[in-house]
Amino acid sequence: MSVAVHVVDHPLIADSLTRVRDKNTPNALFRQELERIGTLLIAEATHGLPTRSVSVETPLTTTLGRTLTSQPVVVPVLRAGLGFLHAAQELLPNADVGFIGVARDEETHQPKPYVNKLPESLAGRQVIVLDPMLATGGSLAHTCELLVQRGAEGTIIVVCVLAAPEGIELLRQANLDLAVYTAALDERLNENAFIVPGLGDAGDRQFGSPA
Ligand code: PRP
Repeated sequence: MSVAVHVVDHPLIADSLTRVRDKNTPNALFRQELERIGTLLIAEATHGLPTRSVSVETPLTTTLGRTLTSQPVVVPVLRAGLGFLHAAQELLPNADVGFIGVARDEETHQPKPYVNKLPESLAGRQVIVLDPMLATGGSLAHTCELLVQRGAEGTIIVVCVLAAPEGIELLRQANLDLAVYTAALDERLNENAFIVPGLGDAGDRQFGSPA
C-alpha cells in the first residue's frame, strides 16, 4: 500500500490554475478553467492504462493498433468533482460513472456521506476518483473505503487540482493504495481546514453556496 503523489507540471495547467486561484475569476470562467485542468490531469493520470494490440483496416492496408483492455469507472465526488466529469467523459466516453456525495462538516471537518451510487462491483476495474480538493483527506479516505467495500482492487487513481500535505499524510495513515495526480501541492491547511494558498471552495465557486 502506498500513496504516490504526482504533481503535474505543465504550462497550460499552470496558466489555468492561476485563474482558478484568482478570487476575481467569475464562476463561469472558473468552471471552464477547472475543466481544462481536468482534461490535462486526466490525460496524464491515465497514461498507464493497459492496452492490447488489435488489427485495424485503414483505407489502404491492415495494420496494428492498440485499444484499452477494459473501461475504467470514473467517480466524481459531489459536488466539486462534477467539474471534472465532462473532461473525463470526453477522454473516456465508454467509462461507467459512479457517484459519491460527501459534505464536509464545517465545524468538525469530518465527511458526512449523502450519496452512494456505484456499479454493483468494482472488481477488476480501474477506478478514477475526481475531486478537485484534497484538504484534510477525510472525504477522499471515506470515498476510497466505499470503493474498496465495493470490490475496488489495486491502485485507485485520484485526480485533484490542489492537495494539502495534511491530507496526503492522512491517506498514507489510512493504508490506501493511491496514485494522486494534482496540479499543485499547496503549503498547508488554515484553522478552518481550507487549503492555503488554495482557491477557496471549489464547490461554491462552480455552483454557488448551498443553504
Ligand atoms: C470539499 C471538496 C472536497 C472536500 C475536501 O467539498 O470539494 O470534496 O471538501 O475536504 P477534505 O479533504 O477535508 O475532506 P465540500 O464538503 O465543501 O462539498 P462541495 O463539493 O459540495 O462544496
